[in-house]
Amino acid sequence: MTNTLITGANKGLGFATARRLIAAGHDVWIGARDPERGKIAAAELGARFVQLDVTDDASVEAAAASLRSELGHLDVLINNAGINAGGSVPGTDLTVDDFRTVFDVNVFGIVRVTHAFLPLLRAAPAPSVINVSSGLGSFHQMTETEWGEWVVPAYSPSKAAATMLAVSYAKALPGIRFNAVDPGWTPTDTNGNTGPQTVEEGTDAVVRLATLGPDTPTATFTDRNGTVPW
Ligand SMILES: NC(=O)c1ccc[n+]([C@@H]2O[C@H](COP(=O)([O-])OP(=O)(O)OC[C@H]3O[C@@H](n4cnc5c(N)ncnc54)[C@H](OP(=O)(O)O)[C@@H]3O)[C@@H](O)[C@H]2O)c1
Repeated sequence: MTNTLITGANKGLGFATARRLIAAGHDVWIGARDPERGKIAAAELGARFVQLDVTDDASVEAAAASLRSELGHLDVLINNAGINAGGSVPGTDLTVDDFRTVFDVNVFGIVRVTHAFLPLLRAAPAPSVINVSSGLGSFHQMTETEWGEWVVPAYSPSKAAATMLAVSYAKALPGIRFNAVDPGWTPTDTNGNTGPQTVEEGTDAVVRLATLGPDTPTATFTDRNGTVPW
């Protein structure tokens, strides 16, 4: 059985990813910061629930301890939790605190969770960590395509960092595969439920990577159509 943890999985893409991975035979733990929302989602999915606020060291440590007591190893960690606070206001109007709020979830959250779960990941035969990033963090996409019209001054840098974290960890830890994915623009609460894709399509890239097993590559950035230019 493949043991999989997905952060921020009580709704949106994380929830949909959990549903598909359970159907694919994974034993899925969904992390949620709010126990009520998490338990309701887990019951609906037939998943296991662990309280996990990616901005809170104690919560992340407790979640890691809880899974250690239940599981011998973790095969797949999906760093999915993310926020887009700050929105599209001009970057010059944002303060360090605004950036800190976004980075605490989208960047430091990945570091906190990955660090805490490394012992469980190292115990797996072919461990894999997937950072749910965004095309809005792609330098190519933001400078060479129509996406450049999108201005999300805290979110874009945070997602560029999320992608680069996957590359950096991949270099540091060759025994674990680290990759980043772009779900593509998908209707969820984070964007006021706008976007041209179905939620299912928004999970294609992450589900594909999470089900490759020993064939999982490392240090890649992909969406449902293939490689995303950095
Ligand atoms: N939808 C898109 O178009 C799109 C495109 C590219 C990338 N993404 C990325 O996809 C990921 C999932 O987003 P989504 O679209 O599914 O949005 P969503 O529906 O708003 O889901 C975000 C999830 O993250 C959780 N979360 C937020 N802060 C957290 C924290 N401190 N600790 C733990 N969980 C936390 C939320 O929990 P609460 O319910 O408690 O708030 C929620 O479960 C994000 O990383 C997002 O940046 C989305």
